[in-house]
Amino acid sequence: AKRIRTHHLREMKERGERFSMLTAYEQYAAATFDEAGVEVLLVGDSASNNVYGNDTSLPVTVDELVPLTRAVSRSVRRSLVVGDLPFGSYQASPEQAYLTAVRFMKEGGAHCVKLEGGVEMAPQIRKLTQGGIPVMAHIGFTPQSEHALGGYRVQGRGETGSRVIEDALAVQEAGAFAVVMEMVPGDTAGQVTQQLAIPTIGIGAGPDCDGQVLVWQDAFGLRQGRMARFVKQYADLHAVLLQAARDFDADVKAGTFPGPEHTF
Ligand code: KIV
Ligand code: NA
Repeated sequence: AKRIRTHHLREMKERGERFSMLTAYEQYAAATFDEAGVEVLLVGDSASNNVYGNDTSLPVTVDELVPLTRAVSRSVRRSLVVGDLPFGSYQASPEQAYLTAVRFMKEGGAHCVKLEGGVEMAPQIRKLTQGGIPVMAHIGFTPQSEHALGGYRVQGRGETGSRVIEDALAVQEAGAFAVVMEMVPGDTAGQVTQQLAIPTIGIGAGPDCDGQVLVWQDAFGLRQGRMARFVKQYADLHAVLLQAARDFDADVKAGTFPGPEHTF
């Protein structure tokens, strides 16, 4: 299996083919999604919630994400591995962004990085791409700016649709190889996808994007609780894991595990 490179995603867009992306934070999920043919694996700052137990993505640090990135990059044969720059690690300046991204590439083995922001992050995107680091942008609802945006809200409804289009054009112009659009009305996302030469990747952005991304613990049902409307449930891993743990616990307590076949 030949490695997926950033140009392959661009070529898929040109051919009118879609591609998929999932989060991954460790070995077995990464290797399994790679085997399934998922083109892109994102070591998301959503590890803050899904690995480290925080309520939001804000607290997670570079020191926490880089080792997860290394685990994922070591575990793939084909998928493109994206390191997600966490809150506070790139916004201050293009130089800060570059030094952070270098850690994801050198220590984490990432193939590229993702950062949140449109027009205002163009200098960071330019600095990274000029320094040999491919950048995936992320516009629309950007969770690291939750408090500035006033909570989880669809971005670019009505009048503000032009803001999403401006951001998309700015990140493309700055050199981004792809752009994630989160919680953007489907018609706006479709319009952006048509206007851009680089691929768009939707999450809550309708069916007209070039690719789609979901957080795997949400899509495959490991996480319990309220899901965003844009999440489709493909499995109920919580139920599978819960039953397996209960069966093990019951066996141990009943003395039926280990059996003779497990005993030397
Ligand atoms: O961190 C993350 O999981 C993300 C995706 C949902 C795009 O940024
Ligand atoms: Na993220």
